[in-house]
Amino acid sequence: MPKQIHLAAHFPGVNNTTVWSDPRGGSHIEFSSFVHFAQTAERAKFDFLFLAEGLRLREQAGKIYDLDVVGRPDTFTVLSALAAVTEQLGLTGTINSTFNEPYEVARQFASLDHLSAGRAAWNVVTSWDAFTGENFRRGGFLPQDQRYARAKEFLTTAFELFDSWKGDEIAADAGSGQFVSRPDVGAFSHEGPQFSISGQFNVPRSPQGRPVIFQAGDSEEGREFAASTADAIFSRHSEFEAGRAFYTDVKDRLATYGRSRDSLLILPAATFVLGDTDAEAQEIAHQVRLQQVSGQTAIRFLEQLWNRDLSAYDPDGPLPDIDPDTGDDHIAKGRASVRMNRDPVAVAREWRALATEKGLSIRELIIEVTGRQSFVGSPRTVADEIDRFVQADASDGFILVPHVTPGGLDGFADTVVPLLQEKGVYRTEYEGTTLREHLGLAALGNAVPVG
Ligand SMILES: Cc1cc2nc3c(=O)[nH]c(=O)nc-3n(C[C@H](O)[C@H](O)[C@H](O)COP(=O)(O)O)c2cc1C
Repeated sequence: MPKQIHLAAHFPGVNNTTVWSDPRGGSHIEFSSFVHFAQTAERAKFDFLFLAEGLRLREQAGKIYDLDVVGRPDTFTVLSALAAVTEQLGLTGTINSTFNEPYEVARQFASLDHLSAGRAAWNVVTSWDAFTGENFRRGGFLPQDQRYARAKEFLTTAFELFDSWKGDEIAADAGSGQFVSRPDVGAFSHEGPQFSISGQFNVPRSPQGRPVIFQAGDSEEGREFAASTADAIFSRHSEFEAGRAFYTDVKDRLATYGRSRDSLLILPAATFVLGDTDAEAQEIAHQVRLQQVSGQTAIRFLEQLWNRDLSAYDPDGPLPDIDPDTGDDHIAKGRASVRMNRDPVAVAREWRALATEKGLSIRELIIEVTGRQSFVGSPRTVADEIDRFVQADASDGFILVPHVTPGGLDGFADTVVPLLQEKGVYRTEYEGTTLREHLGLAALGNAVPVG
């Protein structure tokens, strides 16, 4: 039997992937948008809906960055509401371990798991910037090297809380008048460098016992954290060779933690563009890239690498011949890409060389070097490509990020999904009821402790 493909849907967010100005685009905050999106994902038998997290409005050069969508509602509120209008779709929320407290987060996830009858998942991120931290009670908060230490202990502590109820405590014995069978239900005590807490957890054991755990960081520490603890990784490696390298790297790490290769799923983010023919899809994809990277967006994007005001440059002209400013005070605040460019001067030189070689303007260069569409083609081509990636272990499936809200998944559900089903690589009905079952993960009895 061929490997079965896992698919999920990322609600389009505050990146330039999302074309909010598209005439087909709707609200990014009204409930009706979330409902349409979630119900389409469920109709397509997807494993789950995914929400990313960003806890401060992005800024550039001291002003709100508003070329992309600005603002987003709270994750638990949205996922809880969606639990009521879906029946089987998993609900995955990104919640960071840097600015929160384990007791609060464990309560929220245990509650979501109850409300959704076992469909909750937690994408544990460490969040990257002190700028976001200023919104929280301790200001900028932790330096980068301590975030995974906190993340690990955060998760250990949350697991202690989830596991503090075994599942048989509610007696509800009207005869004796006793509701619980033991006075010490939910008792916990955690003593560690990051958290020193004790008491009784007040949410009874949830249907999955704990939410499914996702991880998204890409560093050495991030990969080890995932290999020791996570059930799935939300990865950025959606290209074939890079995907295979990442897949092998992470799956090879599992043995150290006594885990099997199928106990951790690798799910890269992927975009797609469909057309009646491959040629039509390529043309639509080109138009989408032009929508995503306007002249203004290209200049602002370049400023993020150059760390300088480049507003005087013409997006249709050549790249700046000055080098990036490598000082710490960064022009862009609140976005991950800043940290991804570890050597801006070297990247700038590569981009300049590429632009010269191909005769590209600033805008054309940015279109060339930033996020291409992952899958472009007719439904048949896209279905075959997705299948090829999964069968070749470049991934276990994909978290799809459409560029239009909320209807961007509709075409995929109607045309690509039936082809995958025909190939026998994708479910035609949900077989289980919990997200852990959709993902084919072992029951919790086999779950590993935080390494
Ligand atoms: C694919 C991907 C998605 C991420 N999504 C989020 C997110 O939605 N919210 C967030 O605060 N951090 C997000 N992160 C950031 C990570 O949690 C982490 O802080 C960052 O990648 C730095 O850790 P690293 O050095 O291990 O990569 C994401 C990272 C990756 C690789």
